[in-house]
Amino acid sequence: NSKSTVSITVVGASGDLAKKKIFPALFALYYEDCLPEHFTIFGYARSKMSDAELRDMVSRTLTCRIDKRENCGEKMEQFLQRCFYHSGQYDSEDNFTELNKKLKEHEGGRIANRLFYLSIPPNIFVAAVKCASRSASASNGWTRVIVEKPFGRDSESSAALTTSLKQYLEEDQIFRIDHYLGKELVENLSVLRFSNLIFEPLWSRQYIRNVQLIFSEDFGTEGRGGYFDHYGIIRDIMQNHLLQILALFAMETPVSLDAEDIRNEKVKVLRSMKPIRADDVVIGQYKSDTRGGVSYPGYTDDTTVPKNSLTPTFAAAALFIDNARWDGVPFLMKAGKALHNKTAEIRVQFRHVPGNLYNRNFGTDLDRATNELVIRVQPDEAIYLKINNKVPGLGMRLDRSNLNLLYKARYSKEIPDAYERLLLDAVEGERRLFIRSDELDAAWKLFTPVLKELEENKIIPEYYPYGSRGPVGAHYLAARYNVKWGDLG
Ligand code: BG6
Repeated sequence: NSKSTVSITVVGASGDLAKKKIFPALFALYYEDCLPEHFTIFGYARSKMSDAELRDMVSRTLTCRIDKRENCGEKMEQFLQRCFYHSGQYDSEDNFTELNKKLKEHEGGRIANRLFYLSIPPNIFVAAVKCASRSASASNGWTRVIVEKPFGRDSESSAALTTSLKQYLEEDQIFRIDHYLGKELVENLSVLRFSNLIFEPLWSRQYIRNVQLIFSEDFGTEGRGGYFDHYGIIRDIMQNHLLQILALFAMETPVSLDAEDIRNEKVKVLRSMKPIRADDVVIGQYKSDTRGGVSYPGYTDDTTVPKNSLTPTFAAAALFIDNARWDGVPFLMKAGKALHNKTAEIRVQFRHVPGNLYNRNFGTDLDRATNELVIRVQPDEAIYLKINNKVPGLGMRLDRSNLNLLYKARYSKEIPDAYERLLLDAVEGERRLFIRSDELDAAWKLFTPVLKELEENKIIPEYYPYGSRGPVGAHYLAARYNVKWGDLG
């Protein structure tokens, strides 16, 4: 309302995430008239920069989905006029006090709400939260802090981080972001399950043979090796992005769509899972390869990565949920960098039709005849269901066809970036898509034992060529549970 104002401070404003995601998302929200009437954006970082220089930097990266639209230039100018910069150390209360003064000037006596987006390395997280909360939190409105992963490296360090953050903030002020939750098709999971009669009755061990959660990128860690080597693909993708999708996929029906009701169900399903066994994990690391005269670097060719690094850039794992709905159903995850394609998808393989009259039409490979529901999160968002169908003609030949909902064919509106959805929710105080501390704790409990085992025993990853389909071990793992990865045909 016109009596209140929101100040958004991007701490770590000159970093990659701020430039590539946060500022463009804020601009997109502004363009769509989603930000409150009175708002100000502050960039905060160590480097010296003037407001004009920040605006220049931001304008160069506002190559978001909006930039081809009408009056974009004019809107961008208006947006940039709302952006300011303050240079300071992340652990200096004095510097945050100066920021506080500037924020106050902009707030002009209105009810002042403040959102801090911490886009900074984990080692200075807590110091920055301490300074921001002590010296620059709102005096008469709300103060919220968005934090980015990594939220620790294991159960202990994550719990310690939570305890430290809670010295300065209440749980409901902490917005732990997992940007996969802001992706359109991930948000849609709940709609698909709970607003269509035809899916929910099938959503159990009775009809589902296995579920696959697949993430792949066709590029390596170029430039991010320093960060990545300390974490590896299990912490970077599986423990958060894929596990969050799994929780939404497998949770029981929430009492309502309220944030707490949804998060309660997510925690329950995470707590019903067994910690992952080392036997149920395959790890890999990409090595250099030359194809078509082009050479692609191996992971350890990255100068920021130690030559003898055993950090996995690929992992596949089998997870199980110990409850009545999912008992015995393998949830297979696969995540990797420098693979042959870029995709994120959920594949649901249904059981064989009992006593199927048409089995003989499929020869011995009954798996080929089972239904498969694919939810393609990216790219080319789609939901499709593989069904058996009679090939038209006088004979009786069946083939598999897709009932296909391809987003770009169905919807003309562009799909917002995940960060737009999440930033808007944080401004509006909607917590549904943010991770609560007990969810985080449950997620770490699943992965911590296996991470320790892999690291303490210095397990050597299976090497796979850059641009390939990944280690063959992933197939053996799946085969142990009678599963074939759906993405490999
Ligand atoms: C980040 C990971 O969380 O997600 C990166 O740290 C990864 O390693 C990225 O590349 C993938 O996000 P998106 O939205 O491009 O699929």
